[in-house]
Amino acid sequence: MRTRKLRDIEVSEIGYGCMGFSHGYGALPSKEDAIRLIRMAYEMGCTHFDTAEGYGAGANEDLVGEALAPFRHKVTIGTKLHLYHHENLAQQIEERLDASLKRLHTDYVDLYYQHRNEAGVPPEEVAGIMGKLIQKGKICGWGQSMTTAEEIRRANAVTPLSAVQSEYSMMERMFEKDVIPTCGELGIGFVAFSPMASGFLSGKCQKTDVYTGDDVRRVITRFSPENVEANQPLLLMLQRFAEQKHSTPAQISLAWMLRKYGFVVPIPGMRREERLKENLGAVELVLSENEFGEIEQALSNIVIYGNRTDEDIAKLRE
Ligand SMILES: NC(=O)c1ccc[n+]([C@@H]2O[C@H](COP(=O)([O-])OP(=O)(O)OC[C@H]3O[C@@H](n4cnc5c(N)ncnc54)[C@H](OP(=O)(O)O)[C@@H]3O)[C@@H](O)[C@H]2O)c1
Repeated sequence: MRTRKLRDIEVSEIGYGCMGFSHGYGALPSKEDAIRLIRMAYEMGCTHFDTAEGYGAGANEDLVGEALAPFRHKVTIGTKLHLYHHENLAQQIEERLDASLKRLHTDYVDLYYQHRNEAGVPPEEVAGIMGKLIQKGKICGWGQSMTTAEEIRRANAVTPLSAVQSEYSMMERMFEKDVIPTCGELGIGFVAFSPMASGFLSGKCQKTDVYTGDDVRRVITRFSPENVEANQPLLLMLQRFAEQKHSTPAQISLAWMLRKYGFVVPIPGMRREERLKENLGAVELVLSENEFGEIEQALSNIVIYGNRTDEDIAKLRE
């Protein structure tokens, strides 16, 4: 698989979002199955794996660490921490990183992200601490998630960011306005989470589907039956291009973002072998200038209904 740079960290063009093995999409596959799929992705050329301390209260890091242990030095692991308070910030961050390293069965993390900034900590302060962790060799680079252009600039001026990870897909393009261009300008990679809009863009979700447990599709408005119905024009457009290119809607949506920006790296979530083949296979699909232009034009005429917000996801805990 071709690679891309998140500043100076080299990753496969399409990465693997591992959250769904412990969190966020309802019923879980077995640990053996999850490890098998992660190793299969590596065999297929995927070298970028994403997790977080918060996924399954550490269980996801543990799983990802175990799966990647045989080829740890050939892959990039990204993990994340939430900052809920400002006290003893340097010590707090390093202790949390140490706990992640232990669970990941490794002594360094390639990409360490601030997952959210609940405590409202000044970005410069976090950046300074991340810089020291880079000097110590505990992390190779750092990132912010669901951040703003202003926070990116402030943090990047202290310790250059390797990546920003935020939601990006054909259904959520709000960061095209300023965050993605800011990343491009400052040489920061952009890691697109939920690139399949939680599965919607595959065209395989029906308005009658029922979601249970911690499945975010139970609460995010994109999956309300009315919005599934209202968003059909997007799927029809994807289907049309998929037929034209002998591919699938999922592949068209990934190929579109890879074609659009050279520094964007999607990390779809996949818990079935056929999804790995389909999504990772999207790197083979090249859109010509004309085809890309036609997709962009079509997208500009399609209204998107519903979204995915942290506030809606918090309703899962009610
Ligand atoms: N930084 C953050 O705040 C944040 C937030 C959310 C996620 N993330 C990261 O981003 C990763 C990806 O996010 P996501 O899991 O929401 O991504 P996603 O790929 O948009 O959605 C995953 C869902 O789509 C389904 N899917 C994916 N490809 C498919 C295909 N080809 N056909 C049919 N269904 C398909 C998956 O099904 P199956 O599971 O059934 O295979 C799963 O239900 C996460 O794993 C996590 O690492 C980060």
